[in-house]
Amino acid sequence: MTIKAELIKTVQKIAEKGKGILAADESSSTIKKRFDSINLASTEENRRAYRDLLLTTPGIGNYISGVIFYEETLYQKTADGTLFTKYLESQGVVPGIKVDLGLIDLALTDKEKTTQGLDGLPERLAEYKAAGARFAKWRCVYNISDVKPSAAAVRANAELLARYAAICQTQGIVPIVEPEVLINGNHTLARCETVTEDVLNKVFSSLRKHEVLLEGIILKPSMIISGDTCAKQATPQEVAEATVRVLKRTVPAAVPTINFLSGGQTPEQSTLHLDLMNKLGPLPWNLSFSYGRALQEPSLNTWQGKAANVPTAQKAFQKRMRLNSAASLGEYSESMERGAVTA
Ligand code: 13P
Repeated sequence: MTIKAELIKTVQKIAEKGKGILAADESSSTIKKRFDSINLASTEENRRAYRDLLLTTPGIGNYISGVIFYEETLYQKTADGTLFTKYLESQGVVPGIKVDLGLIDLALTDKEKTTQGLDGLPERLAEYKAAGARFAKWRCVYNISDVKPSAAAVRANAELLARYAAICQTQGIVPIVEPEVLINGNHTLARCETVTEDVLNKVFSSLRKHEVLLEGIILKPSMIISGDTCAKQATPQEVAEATVRVLKRTVPAAVPTINFLSGGQTPEQSTLHLDLMNKLGPLPWNLSFSYGRALQEPSLNTWQGKAANVPTAQKAFQKRMRLNSAASLGEYSESMERGAVTA
């Protein structure tokens, strides 16, 4: 198989209708924050046990087509000694890996961020591929204020995402291109719309310059929402309409699938917004999820680090998977939040 065919095959599998991506790639510092919220120490075994809980949830393959790992998890095993990657493959789920090495300040800006990790990336990708990873993730973030993001931050991060994507494709690894416009701040929906449109335009212009195969990427954007401290919060319908409007203006139809991050929205908001967007269809791309917190939060809170809580924590995870799967088809309704859920 050519590399191009390999990329397209992987994307098509992940873009399967009614399925989405689980982001379980919290870095060591992020998973510590999540565990702090339930007073649990972030030991290697606790991290393994938590990922085991999520990944071995019955029915995962009915709703999830890809899971993003952090490097450590790629080499960890289920309680009965099966590598997580092998277990997922047996469920028809494609393993992926976060490959950026986190955020740093962008020099000569007012604490704007860029992302590190390009050095040595080809070698790391070759190792991850040998370990079973078929797609990768790289996240760039953009802060909104009256003067941010600066033109320099938008340009530097667009270039970076394109260079990362090109390196992944050379290795036959599908890049998730993740430009996250952050929710933090008192900005309006309109300001988020202006910024996100500019960010996505620059990202796609850079992808083109670097000859990235659009049929072989996954876009993971943030939704167009009001800042978390904005006094006037937009309605869910306004969020859905603004997000679809911007995506139609900026994302070529050649991109097979767009999988949103949840970015600090509640699980219920994330599901509702995705559903309302799909109800605006037909759309040129598959529109689904690649949620971290919005899929995991209820299950983490139910688990509390206790083995006895695993079955109910898995039920909570099943519920979020099932409802987001419905939302990816435009078949969700808020009344389903109250219904009993089985896989
Ligand atoms: P959230 O859905 O919690 O924003 O996480 C998605 C993700 O992978 C961020 O990089």
